Amino acid sequence: MTNMSKSGKRTAASKNSKPIRVGVIGVGRGQSFAAGATDLVGMKLVALCDTWKEKLDDAGKKYGVSTYTDYDKFLEHDMDAVVLANYFHEHAPFAIKALAASKHVMSETSCNATLAEGVELCRAVEKSGKIYMLAENYPYTKFNLEMQRLYRTGEIGQVAYAEGEYNHPGEPDWTNSISVGLNHWRNWNPPSYYCTHALAPLMCITDTMPLSVNGLSITAPEVSDALPRQCDPGIAMLCRMDNGAVFRIFGLWLPGHSNWYRVHGTRGAMETTRGPGYFGPEQVRVWHDHWDCPAGTPKERTYVPDWPEHGDLANKAGHGGGDFWTNFEFANAIRSGKQPYLNVYRGVAMSSVGILAWKSALADGAPFAVPDFRKEKSRKAFENDHWSPHPSHAAPGQSQPPPSIRGIFKLKQDAIAKARKVWAKQGYKGE
Ligand SMILES: NC(=O)c1ccc[n+]([C@@H]2O[C@H](COP(=O)([O-])OP(=O)(O)OC[C@H]3O[C@@H](n4cnc5c(N)ncnc54)[C@H](O)[C@@H]3O)[C@@H](O)[C@H]2O)c1
Repeated sequence: MTNMSKSGKRTAASKNSKPIRVGVIGVGRGQSFAAGATDLVGMKLVALCDTWKEKLDDAGKKYGVSTYTDYDKFLEHDMDAVVLANYFHEHAPFAIKALAASKHVMSETSCNATLAEGVELCRAVEKSGKIYMLAENYPYTKFNLEMQRLYRTGEIGQVAYAEGEYNHPGEPDWTNSISVGLNHWRNWNPPSYYCTHALAPLMCITDTMPLSVNGLSITAPEVSDALPRQCDPGIAMLCRMDNGAVFRIFGLWLPGHSNWYRVHGTRGAMETTRGPGYFGPEQVRVWHDHWDCPAGTPKERTYVPDWPEHGDLANKAGHGGGDFWTNFEFANAIRSGKQPYLNVYRGVAMSSVGILAWKSALADGAPFAVPDFRKEKSRKAFENDHWSPHPSHAAPGQSQPPPSIRGIFKLKQDAIAKARKVWAKQGYKGE
């Protein structure tokens, strides 16, 4: 899953190599990348971009770098790579522009918000010859890296069934503080679209690709009506993978935080123990049936794994160390000239699972095939598929799919009033 040196270790930047000059767009989540672009990974932050001037100025002062409110001007800055932490549903057009400007690109959660964007993005990466990486950090937690290592030893055989859960509810004021404005992407994003934190670790552990998906959306008006949100709070998805395995994927903001992964192979099973996820203790449980236990291997064991390497650096980073590894893998890919494991094809495939699962949810769980984005023949059929529930993707005169199986419903006035108070405190002046 990563670029390995001959010793099998991940290669770190040598002290003498020239730092990779990075610019970050979006100073919310983007600040994790800004803070992590240091000599520890052979990177140097040189510029920041955001349209929210006050927040941008604060961040610019904090990091002492150039700031831009205009993305095109930002792309003219002398730099090698761009990290996209702008709006979730707008990453693809920003990536395509950066690639055309000869920059390497690392994109936050979700590469594409429509299938047409997925096709265009794959073509843009191929044309540019630049590195493109999906900044999925959940495959890089200590327990998921350990499950990946263990799977590759063959101890549990071939994956037949797996489960991935990323369910992240939040206290209403906090949720509103990260979803600023009635049209903010978080208030319109169907729950399936945020599937990569649940799906990516399983794909990385088992080295499989999705072939088809079914989605059943979960409504819970008691939960969602407390917020000014048009979207459903949960979804369960079933993915058929390219080795025949079935993965069950669950999210996204139903009560009861959960972040768990489980893999059943043909010769045993493993999982992260159900607990507080990457908040620790990060335990992995491996078990075999008594009639099928390899000689010298315990029938069952539960342990706290160690980092494969660079634990001192990973322990200091957010999201269970994942925020260190994404910068590290991106820098290594640029230095080696080889696309990272989380390349454009895997990134677009998992982002498209989210889109297709929503098409499925609106068709009460009907199966939808996931195109093979590596092949022009397979992806061409989707080059004009602009289907999207996000209001900013609306074409004039065209009706849009809703982000809830309840359809577009009237938001509760008290939920809007509470949210507006939170947004006003943040200096937000829009809708
Ligand atoms: N991997 C993780 O653990 C993790 C955690 C949080 C967020 N994220 C992802 O990071 C991305 C950003 O998340 P966020 O919470 O910071 O979202 P956000 O909506 O709060 O922030 C996006 C920022 O981008 C700026 N922006 C939007 N359009 C712009 C434009 N055209 N030009 C310049 N700036 C622009 C906005 O002003 C805002 O400050 C999303 O894709 C999200 O899914 C990932």
